[in-house]
Amino acid sequence: MTTPQLLTPFKVRDLTLKNRIVISPMCQYSAVDGVVNDWHLVNLGRFAMGGAGLVFVEASGVEPRGRISPGDVGIWNDEQARALARIADFLKANGAAAGIQLAHAGRKGSTRRPWDGGTELDAADAANGEAAWETIAPSPLPFAEKYPTPKAMSTADMAQVIVAFREATLRAETAGFDVVEVHAAHGYLLHEFLSPLSNHRTDEYGSGRAGRMRFPLEVIETVRAVWPAHKPLFLRVSAVDYPEGSGLTVEDTIAFTQAAKALGVDVVDCSSGGNTPTPPALFPGYQVQFAQAVRKEAGLATMAVGLILDAKLANEIVSSGQADLIALARPALDDPNFAIHASAELTGEPDYALAPTPAKSGLDRLAQSLRHMKVG
Ligand SMILES: Cc1cc2nc3c(=O)[nH]c(=O)nc-3n(C[C@H](O)[C@H](O)[C@H](O)COP(=O)(O)O)c2cc1C
Repeated sequence: MTTPQLLTPFKVRDLTLKNRIVISPMCQYSAVDGVVNDWHLVNLGRFAMGGAGLVFVEASGVEPRGRISPGDVGIWNDEQARALARIADFLKANGAAAGIQLAHAGRKGSTRRPWDGGTELDAADAANGEAAWETIAPSPLPFAEKYPTPKAMSTADMAQVIVAFREATLRAETAGFDVVEVHAAHGYLLHEFLSPLSNHRTDEYGSGRAGRMRFPLEVIETVRAVWPAHKPLFLRVSAVDYPEGSGLTVEDTIAFTQAAKALGVDVVDCSSGGNTPTPPALFPGYQVQFAQAVRKEAGLATMAVGLILDAKLANEIVSSGQADLIALARPALDDPNFAIHASAELTGEPDYALAPTPAKSGLDRLAQSLRHMKVG
């Protein structure tokens, strides 16, 4: 029997993923001062042990202003990077490649954790040690009611964010990640620049598609310049704004990803929406069409995401050439062993052989963890 496409390796630059199943970045809002802890290790570790080819650490703020909430993961200091290294080590020692999403929340920052309402931080939060911060965006337009009004970014702010992305990328490398993904989706800072709904600038960073793409492309260029040439760079986009036709269009996204390709992006992770409160119409595989369009028109490898609920659908998407990789968020929460079960369902043979890094003995792993524990 030929191996189902979903379970075949995928090579990008010098990285080979053992299968096409990727765990999508998922915020946990559970970091302290941006530092990951045992929650993150266990949450992400179970996906590696469950057989996924690549596991992403959630949106990680490149600077304190770039967090969504006070519980977000950060990657702006060395303590954060050391804690992340423990996770990257664990993922790699257990058969998955380790990815991290580099993010800046822009105007959707300075908000409470979702279980506390997700709305703007205020004086009561400050009294509890979680003070609001000034948010930044291309234009001074709040995302929605009960969100802070952001400051329109000056060129000095843009330069600071560029430095923050550069340093975060260097820290991702030091921490041992195989993949970084630039987050340009879901209404966060880079998407805010790309979309005419949130970018009303009249300078060279707005006014027309080329202007709106300029800052996100500068960030990508910066990240690629310091991310090792042998390691792949992913880019997450929201292919369209909702309601469709109101803002960013698939044509805009194709133009953006073509330009990103020229700068060395390898894989486009195709999501949608998030820049307005309007949700998409949901059905299984509702965003696959975007992965297919970018793959065809920009000639880039793509990752499909969004209600890809079972192995059969996931396999159909990659074997029909609509996407190269499948990202899972909620289905992986439902079943952290999705990949093992996919193997059982598609081949009749569950892939329980999960000791995939023979180079590392138990003692090596112990020594490695001790090394990280000693630092700092
Ligand atoms: C708990 C949770 C946290 C999420 N956090 C992030 C995140 O950090 N970055 C991101 O780009 N998307 C995030 N998402 C969106 C997912 O990565 C994914 O794109 C979306 O849930 C659709 O995929 P699904 O239908 O497989 O869940 C999150 C989703 C969930 C359910």
